[in-house]
Amino acid sequence: MTSKYLRQEFLSFFEKRGHKIVPSSSLLPSDPSVLFTTAGMQQFKPYYLGEKSPYGSNVVSCQKCFRTSDVEEVGDESHLTFLEMLGNFSFGGYFKEEAIKSAYDFLFKELKLPLAEAVFTVFEGNENVPEDKESVEIWKKLGVPEDKIQKKGKEDNFWGPTGEEGPCGPTTEIHLKGIEVWNLVFNEYYQDKNKKLTPLSQRGVDTGMGLERLAMIAQGGNSVFETDLFSPIINEITGENEKAKRIIADHVKGSIFLIQEGVLPSNVERGYVLRRVLRRAIRYGKLLNLPKNFLIPLAQKAIEIYNDIYPELRSNESDIVTVIQNEEEKFEKTLEDGLKQFEKGLDAFELYTTYGFPLELTIELAKEKGIKIDVEGFNKKFKEHQEISRAGAEKKFVGGLADHSEKTIKYHTAAHLMLAALREVLGPEIYQKGSNITAERLRFDFNYPQKLSEEQIRKVEELVNQKIKEDLAVNCQEMTLKEAKEKGAMGVFEEKYGEKVKVYSIGEFSKEICGGPHVKMTSELGNFKITKEESSGAGIRRIRAVLE
Ligand code: ALA
Repeated sequence: MTSKYLRQEFLSFFEKRGHKIVPSSSLLPSDPSVLFTTAGMQQFKPYYLGEKSPYGSNVVSCQKCFRTSDVEEVGDESHLTFLEMLGNFSFGGYFKEEAIKSAYDFLFKELKLPLAEAVFTVFEGNENVPEDKESVEIWKKLGVPEDKIQKKGKEDNFWGPTGEEGPCGPTTEIHLKGIEVWNLVFNEYYQDKNKKLTPLSQRGVDTGMGLERLAMIAQGGNSVFETDLFSPIINEITGENEKAKRIIADHVKGSIFLIQEGVLPSNVERGYVLRRVLRRAIRYGKLLNLPKNFLIPLAQKAIEIYNDIYPELRSNESDIVTVIQNEEEKFEKTLEDGLKQFEKGLDAFELYTTYGFPLELTIELAKEKGIKIDVEGFNKKFKEHQEISRAGAEKKFVGGLADHSEKTIKYHTAAHLMLAALREVLGPEIYQKGSNITAERLRFDFNYPQKLSEEQIRKVEELVNQKIKEDLAVNCQEMTLKEAKEKGAMGVFEEKYGEKVKVYSIGEFSKEICGGPHVKMTSELGNFKITKEESSGAGIRRIRAVLE
């Protein structure tokens, strides 16, 4: 069964069952709170909330998706950055019974996949949402034995919302060969910005099945890379390192789709994601000793795979190739600069901390120049570095504060406000990377790829000062780490926490796992001012601020 057949079968199967086929929406959604389209339901979000759908209440699509959250996992059997998601949707039309039955019919009757190898999961319930007994009964009615139906918690069997708020609900999943193939979401709730659930006035269905995973099962492959959606690219890559080949193939494919949608490599937002995957692919190419410009023929292969489905890739092929080539040249230059520093005496460890060169890459590059790397020295420094960070982390855990004087405590609360403000101004991907708080000032490190603009600094200051003026109450609650995570609390050094953790909330604005102590009301802080913003290592910025 080719991927082309599977895609078409899916759409016509649901069309025959009263669904309107809707084309994939762009990978770049209009919702400003999300960078990319990550699920088929995104373009239909308003129809779950009662807006009238121009396509009727039942639709089916094959949606292009890009998932940055999975970048690090690419290379295993099933994770990808770019994927196509097959989905059928209902907005106030059918519900669990029909959705489950259709999924069952499609996989096991239409495609005749091995039912005996399938495992099904359903939501076990929690304090807010009841156990999904109905889905269990429906699967059983279809002949699925009870021991093949597993009950799972919120992490696995509750989905959504995308972005900051939206529809969400319990799910039931179909697993084959140990991999989640199809996720059926029953949208019964609306989750607001404060993560509060309210029942939706109309219930909905949102399903998603990765075409690549389906192809893997249907084509008998052991990973999504052993399918006709990847083998033409993989076969072009020489070398023994299977994981590196998979990463390159995934990243080159993701890149062509992003470039096709108008994304260009840069240091912010979508452009940064594209730059990251392209450079990562180049790095892995170097590990495999692939020649200069090796990405070009791979990009051409990727475009060829989608000739029929996304002909726009072919018509923009020369532009896409140019973007990739330019970025490769730029990256080469960065690598060369780094290498020059290395030749001047900057060692592999400094190269790693300052230029972000992984050791393997430095070894490869050095080999070309006939230089030997002191791997032992690198490992020793790396270990020391880790120990220092760990010691820092432990220190942070007991408070991270120079002392518990009244002024120091004020700075500690200000640091929480500032993290929440940074996340609001720069984006939810911002995390604390360290802090040092005394009675005179706060110093705070966080991830961000470039210098903050004057405007961004001003906005962060204003937001913190606004929250100080609002005189918000600071509250502390004890809970398990799991509960804290579910409530969306930020935490930096999770592995160091015990079973119960303290979560400090400042109004609705900030929520962090933290040992304390803090002030009672934000008005105690006075005026907040950022005095310095500077680099503190590759991809890390450091802010110093004072309270006046
Ligand atoms: N929207 C659901 C998902 O992405 C189906 O898994």
